[in-house]
Amino acid sequence: MKITMFESYEEMSQQAAERVAAHIAEHPDTLLCFAAGETPMGMFRILAAMQEDGRIDLSQARFAGLDEWVGLGPNDTGSCIQVMHDAFYRPANIPLEHIHVFDGLAADLTEECQKMENWITACGGIGMTVLGIGMNGHIGFNEPDVPVQNGCIVCDLDDTTKAVSIKYFGQPLPVRQGISIGLGSLIQAREVVLLANGARKSEIVHATVHGPVSNRVPSTLFRDHLCTTLLLDREAAIQIQKE
Ligand code: PGA
Repeated sequence: MKITMFESYEEMSQQAAERVAAHIAEHPDTLLCFAAGETPMGMFRILAAMQEDGRIDLSQARFAGLDEWVGLGPNDTGSCIQVMHDAFYRPANIPLEHIHVFDGLAADLTEECQKMENWITACGGIGMTVLGIGMNGHIGFNEPDVPVQNGCIVCDLDDTTKAVSIKYFGQPLPVRQGISIGLGSLIQAREVVLLANGARKSEIVHATVHGPVSNRVPSTLFRDHLCTTLLLDREAAIQIQKE
């Protein structure tokens, strides 16, 4: 894993967007998998602007939604699908037929997993994924102690994730599970970018970089992956810089 630090969130986001642009320039019909959440919002803004003024051409790319809260759908504020459409797919003019996401309202979640796995296979695997690191080190909804497996998983949410979830919904919702692309499939992506910003992430960034490699902290599993880059702003990097 390579680690790069930036003075500001904006610079970190710019670098993430430029990496996506470089990947697209080489592989125009790649499959991209972007996390929802607050961390990649700056990158989404920059990518949409780049698409608008022709600095990037996302018209042939395909998209796989990383994860979804079980029980939430497009009409729920804070669902991953709603966040991704508002922040990225719509502003960047991504055709709907190029996007596959989990339906958090589906009755059969095993089938949802299978459909996502079929999409990933049909697109030739994940070309590039840009992931946020959760406060507990989760990646998507691969929560602490998740089995490391290919394909997709339905995972019970841990207490940290449930507590943090209120920031997305604006109110407490009784979320208990998430559905997510699994760590095995993410680690096989040709290029992985992990993002973290802000002082509140400095502890988990330290654990990601220096703690034991274990599924107790899913983000550590990317450390030995040569195709992973960790992009940080100054505040998120504070604790690793003390080493
Ligand atoms: P955040 O979430 O980007 O909103 O901090 C990251 C995560 O929990 O995966």
